[in-house]
Amino acid sequence: MTASDTAQDLDALLEEVAEVARPTARQGELADYIPALRDEDPDCFGLAMVDMDGTEYVVGDVDRPFAIQSISKVFSLVLAMQKADRAEGVKKELWDRVGVEPSGDPFNSLIQLEREKGIPRNPMINAGALVVDDVLLGHCENPREEMKALVSELAGEEVTIDERVADAEEGTSGRNRAIAYLMQSFDNLHHTVDEVIDAYAHQCAVQMTARQLARASRFLANDGVDPATGKQILRPPLARRVAAIMLTTGTYDAAGEFAFDVGLPCKSGVAGAIMALAPDRYGITVWSPPLDSSGNSRAGHVALHELAERLELSIF
Ligand code: DON
Repeated sequence: MTASDTAQDLDALLEEVAEVARPTARQGELADYIPALRDEDPDCFGLAMVDMDGTEYVVGDVDRPFAIQSISKVFSLVLAMQKADRAEGVKKELWDRVGVEPSGDPFNSLIQLEREKGIPRNPMINAGALVVDDVLLGHCENPREEMKALVSELAGEEVTIDERVADAEEGTSGRNRAIAYLMQSFDNLHHTVDEVIDAYAHQCAVQMTARQLARASRFLANDGVDPATGKQILRPPLARRVAAIMLTTGTYDAAGEFAFDVGLPCKSGVAGAIMALAPDRYGITVWSPPLDSSGNSRAGHVALHELAERLELSIF
């Protein structure tokens, strides 16, 4: 299929993709460290694809909200890059303190951090996201509200933060705290561990739907311009860098597999969503809660593979 195919063709194609992907969900497992994830319906499945004109192609549970979890790392990075683009000092601060290499380790691993003197490999693993939050705490009046405002603007609707999820995240944050204290010991955390963990827990608890995430991702597939408003959210070279980081690190130690199987910049979250960019064509999000051993949605991975193959979306 090509970009000129009709809307009906694309609707039918999404149905077919869902049919292939849905049954694979049961090969995965729900995240079980907090009630909101443990109690989720494993059979939920939603796939949303929004083109640059705003036409939305959807199948399944695309209007049911979930916690965006690690997908928030893309938006907190975008906010930090907006700040960094306005001030050389922030730019240096950000990229001196967090790298852009894949980690090849689980998203919440401490091992590299000890060896690499408290500098996280990239902003998509927990350590890197905590540093990004630390930078935001230094340069935003209210990082939580600024991030919520950015995501709401991009989604075209007001999004909310589920305080119960944020509380549960804070209550199970032992490993993230350990990461934060380790970075603090290397002088790579400038606010208190409590402040940074609070910011991180709240960004994980932002509630969005697959449809809203697909809309919100489109500016990254459109040289940094939100097609809904024409507003330049990030300059083109910066938007491309966010996409590069998503491709190489957005699905953790499965980033190579995603590049191989899907060929699109992707970012996953532990609630089972994966947000993907098809440059100049679509913002895409798939949601199916059961996860594989890398913490990526099992059926989501299958759906993106099928979609990318059928629509020839791979960037390679
Ligand atoms: O920090 C954590 O453990 C979670 N709240 C978020 C992690 C996440 O979504 C990783 N994703 N696959």
